[in-house]
Amino acid sequence: MPLGIERMENSTVVHLSPLLKQATPVVVERAEGNWILGTDGVRYLDFTSGIGVTSTGHCHPRVVEAARAQVGSVIHAQTTTVMHRPLLELTEKLGGYLPEGLDAVFYANSGAEAVEASLRLARMATGRPNVIAFQGGFHGRTAGASSITTAGTRFRNTTVPLMGGVVIAPFPYAYRLGMTEADAVRHALRELDYLFSTTTSPSEVAAMIIEPVLGDGGYLPVPKEFLQGIETRAREHGILLIADEIQSGVGRTGKFWAVEHSGIDPDILIMAKGIASGFPISAIAASDELMSKGLPGSQGGTYGGNAVAAAAAIATLDVIDDEQLVENAAVRGEQLNAGLKRLQRKFPSIGDVRGIGLMQAIEFTDESGEADAGTAMRVQQAALGERLLLLPCGPLGNVIRVVPALTVSEEEADLGLAALERTLAGVLGA
Ligand SMILES: Cc1ncc(COP(=O)(O)O)c(C=O)c1O
Repeated sequence: MPLGIERMENSTVVHLSPLLKQATPVVVERAEGNWILGTDGVRYLDFTSGIGVTSTGHCHPRVVEAARAQVGSVIHAQTTTVMHRPLLELTEKLGGYLPEGLDAVFYANSGAEAVEASLRLARMATGRPNVIAFQGGFHGRTAGASSITTAGTRFRNTTVPLMGGVVIAPFPYAYRLGMTEADAVRHALRELDYLFSTTTSPSEVAAMIIEPVLGDGGYLPVPKEFLQGIETRAREHGILLIADEIQSGVGRTGKFWAVEHSGIDPDILIMAKGIASGFPISAIAASDELMSKGLPGSQGGTYGGNAVAAAAAIATLDVIDDEQLVENAAVRGEQLNAGLKRLQRKFPSIGDVRGIGLMQAIEFTDESGEADAGTAMRVQQAALGERLLLLPCGPLGNVIRVVPALTVSEEEADLGLAALERTLAGVLGA
């Protein structure tokens, strides 16, 4: 202990907040690729990828090396004070991935922070107050982001007023509505138009924000006709279109961005999670023209665009290209989807199987067609016994998502499906 510094005696036993709910009791000792070794000595197949974060798998050697090298030269070069090379390089590199015209990028740390930045920019750029988000969407837990989040009431701070100016529009959740996809899309677009007559004039709407594949809200790929319908209305009324690609981006759906499946052109694209394989970095991309409409100096932050995270992001993009991980996500996604559909035929409690690329899900319903969260929870927990890590999602808790790293092999996908089949047989009987 240095001279003159005395440590205070403190006998308080400190523990993690009880509000932090963990889906499994696993404590990670080491992680590699699609595998996690727990301190219990058990090796788990990780079909959660840290909620779609470890895109190149856990501790990909090239990502580890890039981060290690960066730690030895610059860790923190605060970007409103000085600039650092990894961020300049990452920004230049993103030009090869971003949709045409999105040529300006602002970096933050978390998804929610980037969502906040997108809302602030949209309001500043349009001078309009309102934001439309879609039922079941998840955009984060900060005040603004939770105000547009309806993936579950627990994500919203319900004891204080949420951010004003938010209008929630219906989502075309065909399975839940008991409609065909085409009817659900027609219904949701009609209701959106109705909102423009009843709740907010379109001329007061700064932006519409949507995840091209609903993530925490239940792994629901948004039908392309719905995205195109939203885009048409956005263009007609001068409303900005924000694509929250925090979970669906960076190759996860079998295209680099999920919006590519529908051909829509977002004005602002939000990325995070998979972009740096686990290092915290997020960003919004927009045209320089749009970005310039904000107040100079209104973007910033102490840690945003961290040098180590930026170096890891550059390595992540290189690995994704060199190992053709976007293509792998598409092929392995089809394999998983076919395997899950086979399980659905065997286990009628699986009411719906859906997904795109490596965002696959099964939804449990009971005999009367109602959401069956109990079964979903039992399956997710029992999978641990089969050494398979799974995560639930959906506002009603009855969906299990299958979201391995983009590196998942054919053999690992089969191993996971077999473990899930044994789990389902144990829980449901077969
Ligand atoms: C689509 C989407 N938006 C926003 C967020 C919030 O990101 P973060 O948890 O990094 O704040 C998430 C996180 O799961 C997400 O999936």
